[in-house]
Amino acid sequence: MRNQYYPNLANPITINGVTFKNRIFGAPMSNPELDPDCHMRKEDLAFHENRARGGLATVAIGLGIVDPVGRVHTKEVTLYDVMSLPSLKEYANAMHRHNCIAVMELAHGGKYAGARSHDGAGDPLVLGPNNETNPDGLRVTSMTDEDIERVADCYADAAVLCQKAGIDMVLVHGGHGWLLGQFMSPTMNHRTDKWGGSLENRMRFPLLVIEKIRKACKNNMLIEYRMSGSEIIEGGYGIEEGIKMAEILDGKADIIHVSAGVHEDPDAFVVTHPSMFIEHGCNVHLAAEIKKHVKTPVATVGGLNDPDMMEQIIASGQADIVEIARQSICDPYFPEKAFSGRKDDITKCCRCFTCFYNYLTNRTFCCALNPVVGNELENKSGFPASEPKKVMVVGGGVGGMEAAITAAKRGHTVTLFEKNDRLGGQLLSEQYIPFKQDMYNFAKVLERRLKETNAEIRLNTEITAEDVAKLKADVVMVAIGATPVIPPIEGIDSPKVAGLLTLHSKEPQVGQKVVILGGGLVGSEAAIYLDGLGKDVTVVEMKDDWAADAYFMHKNAMNIYIRNSRIKIYTDTMAKAVTKEGLTCETKDGELLLEADTILLAAGMKTDQEFVNSFYNTADRVFMIGDCVKPGRVLEAVTLGYNRAIDV
Ligand SMILES: Cc1cc2nc3c(=O)[nH]c(=O)nc-3n(C[C@H](O)[C@H](O)[C@H](O)COP(=O)(O)O)c2cc1C
Repeated sequence: MRNQYYPNLANPITINGVTFKNRIFGAPMSNPELDPDCHMRKEDLAFHENRARGGLATVAIGLGIVDPVGRVHTKEVTLYDVMSLPSLKEYANAMHRHNCIAVMELAHGGKYAGARSHDGAGDPLVLGPNNETNPDGLRVTSMTDEDIERVADCYADAAVLCQKAGIDMVLVHGGHGWLLGQFMSPTMNHRTDKWGGSLENRMRFPLLVIEKIRKACKNNMLIEYRMSGSEIIEGGYGIEEGIKMAEILDGKADIIHVSAGVHEDPDAFVVTHPSMFIEHGCNVHLAAEIKKHVKTPVATVGGLNDPDMMEQIIASGQADIVEIARQSICDPYFPEKAFSGRKDDITKCCRCFTCFYNYLTNRTFCCALNPVVGNELENKSGFPASEPKKVMVVGGGVGGMEAAITAAKRGHTVTLFEKNDRLGGQLLSEQYIPFKQDMYNFAKVLERRLKETNAEIRLNTEITAEDVAKLKADVVMVAIGATPVIPPIEGIDSPKVAGLLTLHSKEPQVGQKVVILGGGLVGSEAAIYLDGLGKDVTVVEMKDDWAADAYFMHKNAMNIYIRNSRIKIYTDTMAKAVTKEGLTCETKDGELLLEADTILLAAGMKTDQEFVNSFYNTADRVFMIGDCVKPGRVLEAVTLGYNRAIDV
């Protein structure tokens, strides 16, 4: 029977005898941490199992490394180590518990490897297409025929290990600049032998790998081949050659998975992992072009978070399969919600890079909008509270709403007080900002979820600590947010000066020349928004760097926008006074006048500590949540709201 909401997206597909229950696949994601032997831990398995639980047809573990020489870092599962088998088996079993196809990515870092791949003394052995020095300064040795044969055998051995574990499909990583991608690339492969030069020669190694896997697994292992449809780097191949590569893979791989870009290039990085400044589905056109030329099912990936768009991709024949990575973190129940007519309850990934940043730096699973991520093992939100309590939540921003929803779902009697006439707090300011729509959507999703609980919501209700105390709650959660910092400079009360609240309206009341006072993340994003509206925007930041508080991938994405825009940023610049003409500032080189019709304040937020403190002792247990603890990100507000509610 066809699904009534998404008949094409929910339509199963059978490939080489294996049926995938729908067209939404879980794109490969590695693990931020592994055990000391680089095997998956219980936490890793729980994270991936949660991805499977919500209805994905497949879940892929990223970066299974097939050869010790191919290691890039220590977050790669060691497929050359037979002791990986128990955790791989656990993984396959976990997937099968949810009728989900278990997929393992087979990868080799090639010239970018070098971690833990010591060939005895001296430099680690690093193998690649050419003799060269890699960006880490390591000597790369051009692979001999024997090396190529040996590494191809490593892929085959790894596939056999996966087969033993019960894994259903291997995903051979031939994109993003990994070893096979290096051989495919005209700019990375300078060989003149049978492994380089012509397209046929550059494809020889990937084909050898596929052939060896097929043979070693006795034709009983599905192979998905991940390639970049275009490398998007100078000298790299574009879609014309991408099509020819796919034609060569046609009939050899079971699925041609079309991604984009090369991981070493910052500009390409935000296309491989599309940033919020790039349109959703920005890589679909690559898959669509390739699909016109091959019979093998084609998958597309990158910035997909909307089931309507996905349905359209499948229905229009642009791709046979859509893959999601970040969206499967943000809302693992995405497929289930879409297929049961609950698309309005989907938390859409806002592409903020919280997940990726925390993978790399804190080595944790993390999502700004999904507080369960990283806590899958101890997630108790589904469990009823042992003793229902009377809970008051003060403040209806995302932290307060998350706390109220979780507490109500656990059976507590919840009342939420919000002084404004709308729920959503700070996120309401994102309503008209095109690249923040998914963030704004999150506030609306939480509002809807809250209304579905039996929590009582009291809008337009400013409540004091005395009022709260009189209500005799068991637990009080204070999520009253923070207020903007108003810098003490001359003329700050001028009518030219406006707060970021001005951006809350569809047509913000700002003049043509706007100076933004404060070049942190918030000010920089406001600059991008106003530039998009055609304003002349200048940002003034007293630190020596702008958006210093942004995750570096997000900053990279902003930088790409800003460097192609008319936005001017002055760092090391101190605002002095608001004048008739604009803003006078002090720089290292002396005084500067920035002409402005409007000066927008983005100088940070502050907590009204006295007011916050007044709520202590209004009940036996009082919890503070979000910006009123310390002005921060959505991540902290949502995480704290959720966790405090499961503490009750
Ligand atoms: C946290 C994280 C880890 C990732 N790890 C891998 C990986 O191990 N191997 C891989 O091929 N791609 C990896 N990717 C890239 C994704 O598979 C995907 O191509 C990319 O994120 C774009 O899809 P999305 O917009 O749905 O996130 C990772 C992405 C993220 C966000």
